[in-house]
Amino acid sequence: MKYREAFRESLESPETFWSRAAEEITWCKKWDRVLDVSNLPFARWFVGGELNTCYNALDRHVEGGRGDQPALIYDSPVTDTIQTFTYSELRHRVSRIAGFLTGLGVTKGDRVVIYMPMIPEAAMAMLACARIGAIHSVVFGGFAPRELAIRIDDARPSVVLSASCGIEVKKRIPYKPLLDEGISIAKHSPEKCVIWQRPQVEAELVAPRDLDWVELEQEAEPVDCVTVKATDPLYILYTSGTTGVPKGVVRDNGGHAVALNWTMKHVYGIDPGDVYWAASDVGWVVGHSYIVYGPLFKGATTVMYEGKPVGTPDPGAFWRVISQHRVKALFTAPTAFRAIKRDDPRGEYLKGYDLSAFDTLFLAGERTDPDTYHWATDLLQKPVIDHWWQTETGWAITGNFRGLEFFPPKPGSASLPMPGYDVTVLDLATGEPVGPNTEGIIAVELPLPPGNLTTLWENDEGFKESYMDPYPGYYLTGDGGFIDEDGYVWVMGRTDDVINVAGHRLSTGGMEEVLAKHPDVAECAVLGVHDDLKGQVPVGFVVFKSGVVRDEGEMVAELVQMVREQVGPIASFKKAVVVEGLPKTRSGKILRGTMRSIADGESYRVPSTIDDPAILGEIEAAVETIGYGKK
Ligand code: COA
Ligand code: AMP
Repeated sequence: MKYREAFRESLESPETFWSRAAEEITWCKKWDRVLDVSNLPFARWFVGGELNTCYNALDRHVEGGRGDQPALIYDSPVTDTIQTFTYSELRHRVSRIAGFLTGLGVTKGDRVVIYMPMIPEAAMAMLACARIGAIHSVVFGGFAPRELAIRIDDARPSVVLSASCGIEVKKRIPYKPLLDEGISIAKHSPEKCVIWQRPQVEAELVAPRDLDWVELEQEAEPVDCVTVKATDPLYILYTSGTTGVPKGVVRDNGGHAVALNWTMKHVYGIDPGDVYWAASDVGWVVGHSYIVYGPLFKGATTVMYEGKPVGTPDPGAFWRVISQHRVKALFTAPTAFRAIKRDDPRGEYLKGYDLSAFDTLFLAGERTDPDTYHWATDLLQKPVIDHWWQTETGWAITGNFRGLEFFPPKPGSASLPMPGYDVTVLDLATGEPVGPNTEGIIAVELPLPPGNLTTLWENDEGFKESYMDPYPGYYLTGDGGFIDEDGYVWVMGRTDDVINVAGHRLSTGGMEEVLAKHPDVAECAVLGVHDDLKGQVPVGFVVFKSGVVRDEGEMVAELVQMVREQVGPIASFKKAVVVEGLPKTRSGKILRGTMRSIADGESYRVPSTIDDPAILGEIEAAVETIGYGKK
């Protein structure tokens, strides 16, 4: 089947399209209905079906003769380790981890928070939860204890799985103190914390709450997969919204398995036995879908990389991994390629590596700018595919295809809608669909395809309010852009206060909440400003309370430290300026768009609604002091 036919069928007869895809998944009980839209905006896929996600990722491959094939290659330049787990070995470990979780009283529907670095045990922990029907919620290691606490309070886990440390290039980051602090801030107390001790940092375990992972695993009996409903939740993954309160995206078991398995071949061109590498982190959606679940559903080999594109040890790191493990497809963020380009503009480090097994580079997390697209294409001489997706969707909304049909890329565009996604651009004011090449907000007509979020954790109202109510009948993506005359989608950026820093999604609202707590701050704004490496970085603008006279440099240092401690280092909040006032409309709304244009050095029009135009000159001067604005 070619793209047009697949796309048409997926929209006109989604039941036919997705039930065919579902044949590739092993079910304990077949579904009664492929799609239930009786309660939109809540769509349910494979209603009545029963399965186990871990069985589909591991056991069925062992039973089908792939037991000795590598399932996961752990490649860690920061610890100088390469370790391969076959499907049999991975199942062996996972079934024992599931065994000790069961021994700790974790059962179907219970939540388990996983706060871990990029080590194989993190993936095993996720699969072990899936094995027993527990709902995992992975929290990215670069978040501060306060962010961890917010997630613990929302998910209310009975058990937290963690490790003694993470390793960031040469820095060792002890996780246990962060975990302890997170739990002390949280109102909810998990009963047990199970810690994987890494040799680089020994964590202090405090009885009776803390337990040693290795001891538990050694004593545990393996447990089998439990049957869950297709519509039961597999995981909760928190993502940034416009406020400091993250959204708990819920994903089900059945639709998730069907959709991800389908993408492996059709989007990524991956067959069983191929090697696939998503250079992301298990704390992000890309890590969930394409380090852990997707490649394993397919019977492929997944690479788990604990390192960076540069500095571990050099800008040839990605080429080394590709050639050493014979990677067929690499998925990473454009920022990683900008980092390699910055350190090795002529691609000297590529020389000597055999990339003959390599087929395609996939990029996502932020728009692939044409410069990065051309640099990567010229260097690799392979197709480079920009594909657009979100934590909420769990897989790409638009992109290009290595298994279905490859279309000529248009640099700067995230190509064509995936089957299942009826992508439409709506006029911001009227909510009416606009014609080709007209910018607006990008929405997807309901129902969303399988694998997408089913709701927000224990917050159906929030789900409706955030995504479904603004334009009834559509899912609001939060991104703006246009569709051109050939149907290519151009995603130009968020229309809300979410920013993307090095492919990491962050809320400026959340950072503003932190700055506003400083006793000397009267008001503030945080904006995502263009950065050549990270795409965007947050910059703070603060106004002193009246009467406050103090050294601005010191003040800024305090603010930077506050965001680091309360949001996390991953926010990359390093710059702020003190200003006399913020530009506002006469009704008091901060003119963020205008401020962003000033910071990015773009020409801008003075808004007619502005209260005090003179303030703009001061903002221009302020951003220049920190290296932004007019060049
Ligand atoms: N635990 C603790 N701290 C972490 C962390 C983790 N898991 N991950 C990152 N951090 C810290 C970093 O050490 C850094 O701290 P610093 O301010 O003390 O230097 C900070 O958070 C920012 O990290 P990062 O965004 O990784 O920036 P960087 O300057 O270290 O590296 C890149 C820049 C471009 C090389 C890096 O961002 C990168 O490899 N990006 C790839 C993007 C990606 O994987 N995106 C996922 C979506 S596909
Ligand atoms: P996350 O939920 O962390 O995956 O971030 C999702 C957001 O990242 C999207 O809403 C977009 O703003 C941005 N994004 C991801 N991929 C792309 C892409 N290929 N092109 C443009 N923006 C992207």
